[in-house]
Amino acid sequence: MIKLLLYTLSLLIFIIFVFAYLNLCRKFSLLSAKYHKTLKYLKALSQCVSSARWGNLQIRIENGPNAITEEISKSLNSFIESVLDRDKMILEYVEKEKENNNIKEDFIAMLTHDLKVPIIAQDNTLDLLLEGKFKELNPEQKDAIRNIKISNLDLRHLVESLLDSHKFEKKGFVPKIQDDINLRKFIDDTISQTNSIASLHNKIIRLYDRCEPDYKISTDIFLLKRVLQNLLLNAISYGINSQYIDITLENNDTQCIISVRDYGLGISKENIDKIFNKYYSAAELYSKASMGLGLYLSNKIIETLGGKIRVSSEENKGAEFSIILPAK
Ligand SMILES: Nc1ncnc2c1ncn2[C@@H]1O[C@H](COP(=O)(O)OP(=O)(O)O)[C@@H](O)[C@H]1O
Ligand SMILES: [Mg+2]
Repeated sequence: MIKLLLYTLSLLIFIIFVFAYLNLCRKFSLLSAKYHKTLKYLKALSQCVSSARWGNLQIRIENGPNAITEEISKSLNSFIESVLDRDKMILEYVEKEKENNNIKEDFIAMLTHDLKVPIIAQDNTLDLLLEGKFKELNPEQKDAIRNIKISNLDLRHLVESLLDSHKFEKKGFVPKIQDDINLRKFIDDTISQTNSIASLHNKIIRLYDRCEPDYKISTDIFLLKRVLQNLLLNAISYGINSQYIDITLENNDTQCIISVRDYGLGISKENIDKIFNKYYSAAELYSKASMGLGLYLSNKIIETLGGKIRVSSEENKGAEFSIILPAK
């Protein structure tokens, strides 16, 4: 009887053990499934965050395996959406600003273009006055008219620089290269076009031609003339206390060098690196109407033509600007 009782008891204990073991196994497999789901969710979460961080704001994370991960997903998704909204707002703002800037720039271009016409008309009338076409003027009257003409030419140069700058910002300089340009003839033409301004300032432009005879270049003569005129006008403006401006032409197998030298104010060491910057100008020191666009544009033009501008100067001893172009 006792034996049977013991047997039944041990069977009962065995059954309880088996039952407990099975229950433990079930719980373990449930836990392990939850663990894998959570791990998978964390991986997806990390991918979603790094993807959003690199700019993919379309990405969203699915709800996780439980209430907490569901909450995390909701917060992260709404955070990404708010970043996306801000991104859109910033883009719209930038677009609007661009549009406003374009309108402003077009307005300035229109205005400067319209200003050019009366300036040229005034200049022509001043020439007629100086030539005595209306009535012979006395020396004081001629001096006064010359001064008005100088200011007028400064204004015209300023308006042209503004227009050039607008054109450059819009579509860059597109050179129209012509072959077989006789360099000497091109320089003679440019000097004779600048001589009237030079003589108003009592300046004499001298030419030293050290190029091989009949030297030819391939370039955009309109753009190169703009640069040369800019350098000559600067030499006229800043070549104070000296009568001469020297142009030197040189060439070798690879380069053609056009240098403009004056013997005036020169440029200090600390300013020489700034002179090609947009809007850098020391002109207000000499009460000159200027915007600091001349050298900025000249540099851009020469770069477009495949060359560079070199400058050397010492304060109060003048400056030399050299246009270095590739030989054709
Ligand atoms: N030949 C020169 N001699 C001395 N300084 C010069 C000369 N050319 C240019 N600079 C300096 O470089 C500045 C920038 O020249 P530029 O771009 O032509 O502008 P702007 O003449 O309108 O001031 C001038 O204001 C001046 O300070
Ligand atoms: Mg200038």
